[in-house]
Amino acid sequence: MSIVVTGATGHLGRHVVEQLLDKVPADRITAVVRDEAKAADLAARGVKLAVADYNAPETFDSVFAAGDKVLLISGNEFDKGRPAQHQVVIDAAKAAGVALLAYTSAPGALSAALADDHRTTEQALLASGLPYTLLRNGWYHENYTENLAPVLEHDAVVAAAGEGRVSSASRADYAAAAVAVLTGEGHENKTYELGGDEAWSFAEYAAELSRQTGREIVYNAVSTEVLTGILAGAGLPGPLAAILAGVDASIEKGELVVTGGDLSRLAGRPTTPLAEAITAALKA
Ligand SMILES: NC(=O)c1ccc[n+]([C@@H]2O[C@H](COP(=O)([O-])OP(=O)(O)OC[C@H]3O[C@@H](n4cnc5c(N)ncnc54)[C@H](OP(=O)(O)O)[C@@H]3O)[C@@H](O)[C@H]2O)c1
Repeated sequence: MSIVVTGATGHLGRHVVEQLLDKVPADRITAVVRDEAKAADLAARGVKLAVADYNAPETFDSVFAAGDKVLLISGNEFDKGRPAQHQVVIDAAKAAGVALLAYTSAPGALSAALADDHRTTEQALLASGLPYTLLRNGWYHENYTENLAPVLEHDAVVAAAGEGRVSSASRADYAAAAVAVLTGEGHENKTYELGGDEAWSFAEYAAELSRQTGREIVYNAVSTEVLTGILAGAGLPGPLAAILAGVDASIEKGELVVTGGDLSRLAGRPTTPLAEAITAALKA
């Protein structure tokens, strides 16, 4: 029986494999990658590699075995039909008879268009009859803290979220939850709503940035139309810019506030405070 992680060379996948290595022998972990060279460091540590692409169903033919526990990390090719890509993995896992298929989804309350692919994948997973775990990941701190350059250039956080709050957490926190599910017992057919312990507003985010940089950084609240224009102006394809601005509209409505404590409970510790993620990003 192996623990198999797709998207293993992505940001979240790397955290998951790293944390798995602390808990299980390397030869019980299979990293599913598109580019073997990107995972050479993992192979050197004894992690098994499987080369497969969500766009090529036949590449998944022998990736899974009966009894495996699988983490399907959602893809990032928004223009290629992610539900069909994810279906490829579900079908292969079903054919192999895996013991568990965990999927990194989005918060149940999120009505933004970005959540559509996740809902479709959740339905496909439930329809498959496989034992499943829905890891409904809330927002990453890193969505913000890894994009500080324009904020520091203009001394302004620009968002279309009004006074809305978001309970983000670090990728490492979400990875810890996934690892708990993959290495623990009793997570079959469970849905976890995952988010940081503390929700914050963009005004508070700007204030924390000001405190840590010693500069006066303000929150500039704009409309979703203005934000779509700004993101498109920065080079994002129009449809993606609109989708991301739509997430801010959801934040304003409170749809990315996750309560209930599933994330810290699964991780076995409090989630990473936003201030800590800011400190790390400013140091990087
Ligand atoms: N909760 C949030 O705030 C948030 C934010 C952004 C994204 N997400 C979602 O969460 C996922 C994981 O986040 P992340 O930060 O790790 O994203 P990421 O760094 O972009 O990683 C995406 C992973 O998916 C793999 N992938 C993409 N298309 C694939 C395909 N056709 N076949 C096989 N693998 C494919 C990539 O492979 P390569 O390594 O070969 O590129 C990569 O490993 C994202 O893909 C996205 O669905 C969530």
